[in-house]
Amino acid sequence: MSSFQTLLETSLKTYCEERFVQPEQLTDRQWYQFIAEVSQQAVLQSFPHNPPLVSTRKVNYLSMEFLIGRLLGNNLMNLGVYDQVQQLLAKCGKNLVDILEQERDPSLGNGGLGRLAACYLDSMASLSQAAVGYGLHYQYGLFKQLIGYHGEQLERGDAWNRDFYPQQYHRADLQQKVGFGGQVVHLQDDKYQWQPEWEIFGEAFDLPVVGYKGVQQPLRLWQGYSETDFDFAVFNDGDYLHAESRVIDASKLTKVLYPNDNHQEGKALRLMQQYFHCACSIADILRQHLAQGRSLEQLPEFEVIQLNDTHPAIAIPELMRVLLDQYELSWEKAWSICSKTFAYTNHTLLPEALEQWDQTLVAKLLPRHIIIIERINNELHHLVKAEFNEDEFAQAWYETAVLMDNRVRMANLCVVGSFAVNGVAQIHSDLVVSDLFPAYARLFKGRFHNVTNGVTPRRWIRQANPALSALLDQHVKGDWTKDLELLRQIEPLAKDPQFQRAYQAIKQQNKQALAQVIEQEIGLKVNGEAIFDIQIKRFHEYKRQQLNLLNIIATYQEIKANPEQAVVPRLFVFAGKAAPGYFLAKQIIQAINNLAATINSDPDMQGKLQVAFLPDYRVSLAEKIIPAADVSEQISLAGKEASGTGNMKLALNGAITIGTLDGANVEIAEFAGEENVVIFGHTVESVRELRANGYNPREYYEQDDVLRNAIDALTDGSFANGDQHRYDALVDNLINHDPFCTLADFASYRAAQQEIAKRYQNQTAWVESAILNTARLGAFSSDRSIRDYQTRIWKKA
Ligand code: G1P
Repeated sequence: MSSFQTLLETSLKTYCEERFVQPEQLTDRQWYQFIAEVSQQAVLQSFPHNPPLVSTRKVNYLSMEFLIGRLLGNNLMNLGVYDQVQQLLAKCGKNLVDILEQERDPSLGNGGLGRLAACYLDSMASLSQAAVGYGLHYQYGLFKQLIGYHGEQLERGDAWNRDFYPQQYHRADLQQKVGFGGQVVHLQDDKYQWQPEWEIFGEAFDLPVVGYKGVQQPLRLWQGYSETDFDFAVFNDGDYLHAESRVIDASKLTKVLYPNDNHQEGKALRLMQQYFHCACSIADILRQHLAQGRSLEQLPEFEVIQLNDTHPAIAIPELMRVLLDQYELSWEKAWSICSKTFAYTNHTLLPEALEQWDQTLVAKLLPRHIIIIERINNELHHLVKAEFNEDEFAQAWYETAVLMDNRVRMANLCVVGSFAVNGVAQIHSDLVVSDLFPAYARLFKGRFHNVTNGVTPRRWIRQANPALSALLDQHVKGDWTKDLELLRQIEPLAKDPQFQRAYQAIKQQNKQALAQVIEQEIGLKVNGEAIFDIQIKRFHEYKRQQLNLLNIIATYQEIKANPEQAVVPRLFVFAGKAAPGYFLAKQIIQAINNLAATINSDPDMQGKLQVAFLPDYRVSLAEKIIPAADVSEQISLAGKEASGTGNMKLALNGAITIGTLDGANVEIAEFAGEENVVIFGHTVESVRELRANGYNPREYYEQDDVLRNAIDALTDGSFANGDQHRYDALVDNLINHDPFCTLADFASYRAAQQEIAKRYQNQTAWVESAILNTARLGAFSSDRSIRDYQTRIWKKA
């Protein structure tokens, strides 16, 4: 009997004895608690950690977000004990899938950026790449989303770990102390002494990340606490949580995760969170490094600090501060260590999303750091002067300066302080160089790279789609879970009628399962024969859920006008949250819900058109939607979506992408074959032209009857209980501004949607395309991304 089996059986006996019950009498909740505790014990006791550093350094992955999803099923699978647990439960009349439903998703992230971090931890642990994930232990994750009576988004707090969260444990031994405010005494030359006004403690919580047949390594989350409160009014430039008091409790520091509307608000508390995260993490990294008998100079040889976006940028001056003030290194020595240790991943080109902090605020909160940043800025000034001639200098300095107009530009700080900068899909990385940082690219040759994102096949195929996994197991030689390129082996089967039938039957079964979820969640009975057309992601104008909305309205109007016309039935499914302060994104959610209410109750739409908005999008919901998708909506304006990762998950599970040439869609189309995706819309170049010629959305509105009728339906009260003004802001924005060229892409999107309907009617060809998407997209495994990081960025210095 395996040691896990013994542990399982003896622990069950004790667990039941303590409760005076037989195993058959345990509730689902108790079973969940029991299995979670036993598997956590197994992970901690018997799973290996500390993999050796062979050709790469240890990765310290700093991210303000880790959207890890439910862990129990994943851990059981990676421990290799899933079947044993399933059998034990079956003996007691229970189903493991139901028990796993008891787990609450820790929603410690907003969307793609946080989910990417989680996939990367999984892949690093599976590939035995030594790593620690560093994040924050938010008391409330991203809000829970409810849909109100009028179709509007409502937000509720999500205290994810209040009752029971067995996958983490408190590391009382790893406490850190973090200072804020106060003053800096200039001792002599380069020597300064910071005397902070307050100190807050950082407590560590570890969540072991269990790799697939690999190792376990920690996701370390810091939580703030203090014995004394601090006077927040000294810094306050906002109204944090509507604080009644000017004095706040330090534990509030890590209370909430800030929602992402890709718009920087400059809240002092967010900056405090960022610094707290970085100070605790840097101290922990140095502690471990020195404990192994290594010198500070050896830091870049053994450690890399990967910055997931600019949110942890302040780690750069923090490491400088520690090296200068605590270890008394010279500026040159400290900078040489620092600039070989950090690497930065950029996730967005949107100018309004690039973080900039008010310099006065930074100076008040982190007075020592601002002195360091000023010095970095001065050194940079010399470099720029040396590289650019007089005519070029002003523009180059305007682009590259870290300090400009009383702002601290965090992306610039990251580029200057890192040895490597990468974008997250080829087209995005090219734009980072050509549009965002051209002067830097000239100044720092060889610093810019691309690493196309990836997703873990363990969660997104093996766990989310067990039926497809079983089919793949049957037909693929070797463990595709660990080497996703092996899926190429099914390519020759794409035309095989028997394989097609099996593949199609699985899709149908997954669609039925999603139909049940939809009925449970929103009470809508859906047509399982329809095309399941899916758009799941954060709500943002650039992701263009409004384009999908307008096409659905136009389709509705067309069916109404031609009741006799044959229609390929379609179910549109949406899920996603809008940042609470993002009014237009919330209007789009409301319009979709109101449109859904009208369409779903209209007898003329029966068997033809349905719309479902599933509330509270989260990882566990994505796992149910993705395997059931026929069509994957990836319709951002070209040049705006850095990569996307939902596009990869959906395509690998056999959905056909309808998308623009944006982010990783471009590479997905190349790998899948252009005939197995449907591309539409303006390209990066044609958007440029459109704007250069003075884009006027109103012209499209006036000239395209179908488009005009669809937009007008938003102002005639049809989808707002007669209220003609509910969507005024949205409509005004579309017709008069349309920053993301929705109207310019409408006609081509609509034609692409018609193409989808046409292709779906030939089921043999459709299934063949779906199979080829699964077979050919193995490159989008996050294991491949991690290998790219290893060879391009993390290799030993
Ligand atoms: C962001 C980017 C997205 C990218 C992801 C991970 O995700 O916008 O293109 O795939 O980071 O790199 P978002 O927060 O928008 O979901």
